[in-house]
Amino acid sequence: MLTIEQLHAGYGQSQVLHGVTLAMAPGEIVALLGRNGAGRSTLAKAVMGLLPAQGRIEWRGHSILGKKTFEVARLGLGYVPESRDVFPDLTVAQNLLLGHKSRAGPGRWSLAQVYRLFPQLAARAAVRAGVLSGGEQQMLTLCRTLIGEPELVIIDEPTEGLAPQLVEAVAGLMRLLKTQGTSVLLIEQKLTMALDVADRCAVMGHGRIVFDGTPAALRQDSALRQEWLQV
Ligand SMILES: Nc1ncnc2c1ncn2[C@@H]1O[C@H](COP(=O)(O)OP(=O)(O)O)[C@@H](O)[C@H]1O
Ligand SMILES: [Mg+2]
Repeated sequence: MLTIEQLHAGYGQSQVLHGVTLAMAPGEIVALLGRNGAGRSTLAKAVMGLLPAQGRIEWRGHSILGKKTFEVARLGLGYVPESRDVFPDLTVAQNLLLGHKSRAGPGRWSLAQVYRLFPQLAARAAVRAGVLSGGEQQMLTLCRTLIGEPELVIIDEPTEGLAPQLVEAVAGLMRLLKTQGTSVLLIEQKLTMALDVADRCAVMGHGRIVFDGTPAALRQDSALRQEWLQV
């Protein structure tokens, strides 16, 4: 459903992606791993139309290369950036409602469901988002994107800086998304969690995909992990 081929992108003169090729099937959870600076966030930004790129990006058979971010989002691609970009002066509930897209029929994600999943957001529904902790803001950004009901969601390091209990909540959320048939491109640093929830994993190094295979294959390949993942 998402096909990336020979993608090149970067920032001005500095080229970061050197021909990335990666494909995702419907309902698949793919973990995108790599050391800091490998180019994972750059790939996410290129797919979402936040950076100019050359190559091929197709979403359900149609090119989305060169489309604006809001157009890409409207086609069903959700994006949770590394930065926790909540609207600080709006309440938690207002932030969540901003994620809604008008469409007919009952959705997969209601406010009530989000609150059931993350009781800490329910408890703070009427609180200004700006006063939430970093972890809570991360949850809020994630839930706001899910309320827009993307068919594929790119999530950039959702567990960074989260307490272990919240990491488990995020892992549970990934599994729930899978049962709903939502595809996830999960950019992660936490190898154990990523391998646990992913159907497939891709490893990036120096702006290229250096491994694409099953979590089991990556678990067995200690040389690969040492070369591309461990610090
Ligand atoms: N806004 C930016 N301007 C210039 N260079 C950037 C910018 N963001 C990231 N980079 C560079 O791009 C490379 C890849 O970064 P990034 O995609 O963030 O890696 P990752 O997400 O895998 O840690 C790094 O060398 C980083 O310094
Ligand atoms: Mg990053």
